Amino acid sequence: MIEIRHVAIIGTGLMGCGIAQVFASHPDHCVTTFDSHTPASSVQQRIRENLERLVRKKVMAPKDLSAILSRISTAETMEAAAKTADLVIECIPEDMVLKQNLFCDLEKVCKPEAVFASNTSVMSITEIASKTRRRHRIVGTHFWNPPYLIPLVEVIKSDDTDERVMAATMAVLKKTGKHPVRVNKDVPGFLANRLQHALWREAISIVAHGIADAATVDEAIRMGFGLRLPVLGPMENADMVGNDLVLSIHNYILPHLENSPLPSPLLQERVDKGELGFKTGKGFQDWSPEQIEQSRKRLTEYLIDTLSAPKGA
Ligand SMILES: NC(=O)c1ccc[n+]([C@@H]2O[C@H](COP(=O)([O-])OP(=O)(O)OC[C@H]3O[C@@H](n4cnc5c(N)ncnc54)[C@H](O)[C@@H]3O)[C@@H](O)[C@H]2O)c1
Repeated sequence: MIEIRHVAIIGTGLMGCGIAQVFASHPDHCVTTFDSHTPASSVQQRIRENLERLVRKKVMAPKDLSAILSRISTAETMEAAAKTADLVIECIPEDMVLKQNLFCDLEKVCKPEAVFASNTSVMSITEIASKTRRRHRIVGTHFWNPPYLIPLVEVIKSDDTDERVMAATMAVLKKTGKHPVRVNKDVPGFLANRLQHALWREAISIVAHGIADAATVDEAIRMGFGLRLPVLGPMENADMVGNDLVLSIHNYILPHLENSPLPSPLLQERVDKGELGFKTGKGFQDWSPEQIEQSRKRLTEYLIDTLSAPKGA
């Protein structure tokens, strides 16, 4: 079994910082980071803010905060961060050539047995790995934002990933307290984003066709089947209600569901008008600065409270 203790994170933006925090939370790990633009002090500061939130919510002891931070160091070069690492995770922008070039650079400086991972949201792991000689050692690790709170990590096997690399990646993620799921095929959107965006496409279509407004769509989900989702996914739910019933419903409803292979014209129109959502204060709905802050706070606090609740409570 490949043993992973030293983890290098390349790119410490939104995701890289959170992922560094995840690995540093286990005492067996040390983490080195490198970013071509972000200063070292900002990495420590952002992770400290996340940890302080957990301390304030009393789900982490204050002494753990400094221990976790002490396990993270920032390097001046990519080589210094990665050369002795057992696992290198790239969290640089979603750009195929940038990621391909990074793995080519990494294989020149890393240990032969190092595992390489990409945190790409949707791009092909096989294609990202295609320019390197070590493509069998490259795996997808798709963390979800915020990575220090959302348990799921999709572990994606490319056409070339070695089974031992899959096993070591699944094992180290479990050890850090994450919930890895294995994705057997390297398809666009992997597993969870395919599901998520199938729902979003229908949600936007419902608004576009005037069936309900944006707030009502979200309300119907939050107050309805959304409540069941943490304990009952669609596959178990289908078995629960009976596949004969699901078949009848699908025979009737599927021809009426949105199946466009292109983004909704309504979404395109919003973007063309500069109505980008929280970024501009207007999207499918209007957002004041207070509402934006409330929305973000509600999500973070909900995740912390739900994930820290005693099992069975
Ligand atoms: N934002 C999300 O919600 C989310 C969720 C899951 C996966 N992802 C994926 O994670 C990756 C990173 O996303 P992000 O949101 O953290 O991006 P980000 O823009 O916040 O951070 C990217 C960081 O990479 C640095 N960088 C750029 N080129 C570099 C290089 N060659 N070497 C070292 N550092 C470099 C930048 O300075 C920046 O700090 C992307 O592939 C993205 O698709 C994002």
